[in-house]
Amino acid sequence: MRMTNPHNLIAYRRWAPVYDATVNRIFTPGRKRALSLLNLQPGENVLIVGVGTGADFPFLPAGVNATGIDLSPDMLAKARLKLPACRATVKLIQGDAQALLEPENSYDTAILNLILSVVPDGRACLQSTLRAVKPGGRLVIFDKFQADNEKVTPGRRFMNFFSTRLGTDITRRLGDMLAGCACRVLLDEPNLWGGMYRVILLRKD
Ligand SMILES: C[S@@+](CC[C@H](N)C(=O)[O-])C[C@H]1O[C@@H](n2cnc3c(N)ncnc32)[C@H](O)[C@@H]1O
Repeated sequence: MRMTNPHNLIAYRRWAPVYDATVNRIFTPGRKRALSLLNLQPGENVLIVGVGTGADFPFLPAGVNATGIDLSPDMLAKARLKLPACRATVKLIQGDAQALLEPENSYDTAILNLILSVVPDGRACLQSTLRAVKPGGRLVIFDKFQADNEKVTPGRRFMNFFSTRLGTDITRRLGDMLAGCACRVLLDEPNLWGGMYRVILLRKD
């Protein structure tokens, strides 16, 4: 099944009430690692793409100005509840991360945790994020990808039939998304589940 925005709206309406108590717990180590690599500094502007329930908020230091964008009003409603406890200043926007409306070159950094495998077009999402980040800016990704040099096996395609219904695609390759993008990979390391989940640090050219 192909991921679409209408499908994601339904999937994440279902996930919103249980996301923090389930998947969010599993992914805390990857999220922590990604945010530590970003090394956010007070005064920096950070774009959180597919902000979800605001699971990254506890790792944002004071003095950071964050903008979180997400398609799902239900996930954003959960994120809004976390704002009073957040040390950083956070603005939330409902929208499609494949076509950011933010001004170009306006962010020092961007966080792409568990979003490139979810949006209908991961490459479009990465490109629109890169447009929003200043030249030389850092981007961090924590997500699951198929290895660039491997074909999608029938078994994986079968599993993907179910995972796409739950709101995530397990057959995407980061290399396909990065091809031709104006950025360089500074670090790409395995994280969870034998390297299925990876943490990647990018710098915009
Ligand atoms: C797996 S959750 C990850 C949330 C958060 N980044 C995290 O690390 O916990 C995927 C999020 O992507 C959002 N999403 C799906 N399609 C989107 C789109 N086209 N534009 C923006 N957000 C989208 C969903 O609503 C959901 O909140």
